[in-house]
Amino acid sequence: MLSRPDVAVIGAGPVGLAIAWRCAARGLRVAVHDPAPGSGASHVAAGMLAPVAEAYFGERELTGLLTASAARWPAFAAELTEAAGADVGHRTEGTLVVGLTGDDLAEARRLWAYQQRLGLPVTPLRPSQLRDREPALAPRLRGGALAATDHQVDPRRLVPALRTAAERAGAVVVPGLVTRLSDVDAGTVVVAAGCGAAALAGLPVRPVKGQVLRLRAPGGGGPGFRHVIRGYADGERVYLVPRDSGEVVVGATEEERSDTTVVAGAVLRLLRAAVDLVPELAEYDLVETLAGLRPGTPDNAPILGPLPGRPGVIAATGHHRHGIVLTPVTADLVAGLIVDGVADPLLAPFRPDRFGTEENTWN
Ligand code: GLY
Repeated sequence: MLSRPDVAVIGAGPVGLAIAWRCAARGLRVAVHDPAPGSGASHVAAGMLAPVAEAYFGERELTGLLTASAARWPAFAAELTEAAGADVGHRTEGTLVVGLTGDDLAEARRLWAYQQRLGLPVTPLRPSQLRDREPALAPRLRGGALAATDHQVDPRRLVPALRTAAERAGAVVVPGLVTRLSDVDAGTVVVAAGCGAAALAGLPVRPVKGQVLRLRAPGGGGPGFRHVIRGYADGERVYLVPRDSGEVVVGATEEERSDTTVVAGAVLRLLRAAVDLVPELAEYDLVETLAGLRPGTPDNAPILGPLPGRPGVIAATGHHRHGIVLTPVTADLVAGLIVDGVADPLLAPFRPDRFGTEENTWN
């Protein structure tokens, strides 16, 4: 245990651990507090690095941050693999966005036309071109597009690797729940506690439930497809994330709820959509059903920067659907604030004081 660290990070998810790694590597004494490191949203997350396919209407500034972070991912993954001596499952085959019916395709097209107007790389593909790339796709798909720069990483490999890298750089992980900021004595306190940031620091972070399944290819081989697939299937949205291990992550619901119950109807809808898009998934083992809580904010963008009226406290939370992709940029920007005292212009749209008082509660 460090006597009085320069930096105390509350929350040992990917964001908290990456900030700890960056600060410790710059010579600061760092403690990371968490009762159960890596057991939050990242344990459920699929690990899509998808600034293009997840560029939604009305979220332009968030898209800019996602794009900036995704661009850092290849170097971040390589540096982390070196620092931790562990592979984090970073894969670069790209993402196929597909529509099952004519209506599904029309919905997908409207979004990718918007993404193209933003200058993001989306290439429309005919059904035959989709199936040339992924023969496992259902023959009746009406069409789709390739987002070649949308990649993936395995969050269940990422978090232990970040912890190892942070500890090798000198950070100390302290088990235990911090319930009051005043209980932590450090030069700077970073609130990276996901949904816990509401109770801990009064930040407008609300839980957004996501139910997710994990399938496994039979016979010990890899899945029969390599790209991440994001599908619109009879009005349901689903994503399929294949791993070298044979795992396929199927997600996810998005519900304004704070329980972590997995319900049969959600499993049914996710599986039906998954099998409609990739029929062979019906033969895979269903190995896990799980629900997690994304930390959503009033504008569903993260809260990054010094907390007004709280000297020495910095927020790095509220990453909602994007915690994994935003990990590198969040770590770099927050470490820049702490170590160099420099507020990167990228932080400006995500200031903690951007919300009105009416937005500061969610229930
Ligand atoms: N980024 C995917 C999800 O939150 O489900």
